[in-house]
Amino acid sequence: MEQISVKKTRVGDVELALSGPVEGQHEWIGQVQTLRELLACWLVLDEADLPLSPRLVGPPGIGKTTLAMAAARTREQPLYIYQCTSDTRPEDLLVTPVLAESGKIAYHASPLVSAMLEGGVCVLDEGNRMNEKSWASLAPLLDHRRYVESVIAGITIKAHGDFRCAVTMNDDESTYEVPDYVLSRLQPTLDIGFPSRQDEMAILRYHLPFAESDLLAITVDFLQRAHELDLTFSPRDGINIVRYALKRLAQEEDHPLSADAAWAESLQRVLGTEAMDLDRLAAERQQSLGKPLPTMDFQDFFFEEDDPLHPGKDDDNPLI
Ligand SMILES: Nc1ncnc2c1ncn2[C@@H]1O[C@H](COP(=O)(O)OP(=O)(O)O)[C@@H](O)[C@H]1O
Ligand SMILES: [Mg+2]
Repeated sequence: MEQISVKKTRVGDVELALSGPVEGQHEWIGQVQTLRELLACWLVLDEADLPLSPRLVGPPGIGKTTLAMAAARTREQPLYIYQCTSDTRPEDLLVTPVLAESGKIAYHASPLVSAMLEGGVCVLDEGNRMNEKSWASLAPLLDHRRYVESVIAGITIKAHGDFRCAVTMNDDESTYEVPDYVLSRLQPTLDIGFPSRQDEMAILRYHLPFAESDLLAITVDFLQRAHELDLTFSPRDGINIVRYALKRLAQEEDHPLSADAAWAESLQRVLGTEAMDLDRLAAERQQSLGKPLPTMDFQDFFFEEDDPLHPGKDDDNPLI
């Protein structure tokens, strides 16, 4: 069997086996400003200065993880990703003991601690899922102290000067409310918005260079319409729709399936039948959020909204 060599390092009296960095990263396409803002957070301007650990916030599939990975690549630093879950324990985040072949206890450094020791970038992915106890163990790391304390290994681990961190968070209903004292250390907040039409096309083309332009175009049309309606369908959904449609097309070579039919089938399988009628979905979603739908009065047929003669113009609530 091939032996994978594990890098080890010593902290105090304890030898830690390090996690390996993540290889094979994707490019970040479009939204240059957002990438610049993230890179700005990681600049250190003076000996007395500290890097910031920002929160990357947005709906699932919009590109948060990809952005953080691309920023690490731009800085040419090794990248480590820690996937946060609701049952992540402080020791999972820091150092875990494992029984070695020799029968002795060996200590494994998490991707976070490995990034701290190696001077890499750590992305704490989907941080909104993690419980308070685990976040509490990171409080000293995320302020001027820049260290963590592993109770299990009995050591204090200081972060390398090049260590950088970012946290991604979905803005849907998360498992836990991250406490304020943690949020105040995860600043600033960078909201990732939906890509423009042109960028969305470039993203799909980049990931699916073998797809026909027509299929990409109807997918981009669909996604852009969904973004306008405030529905949270994402580039990831678009990539999945095109991928499945292409596979169905390839399979039905003998009984050709039209590209339109394959696309419609794929849309339904990936996002559900509801997604076939975006307007209705948007209306239903607004209603469930308790927002009143913009309604039209009889007056609206005769007056433009900003017409000074509009009888409802100065009403506090134009919907009444
Ligand atoms: N600007 C972008 N450039 C390149 N790929 C993108 C971009 N935005 C989204 N993607 C692609 O969309 C998919 C979802 O992105 P991901 O970063 O996993 O989303 P999130 O972390 O927000 O859930 C990935 O395949 C990713 O590569
Ligand atoms: Mg992600």
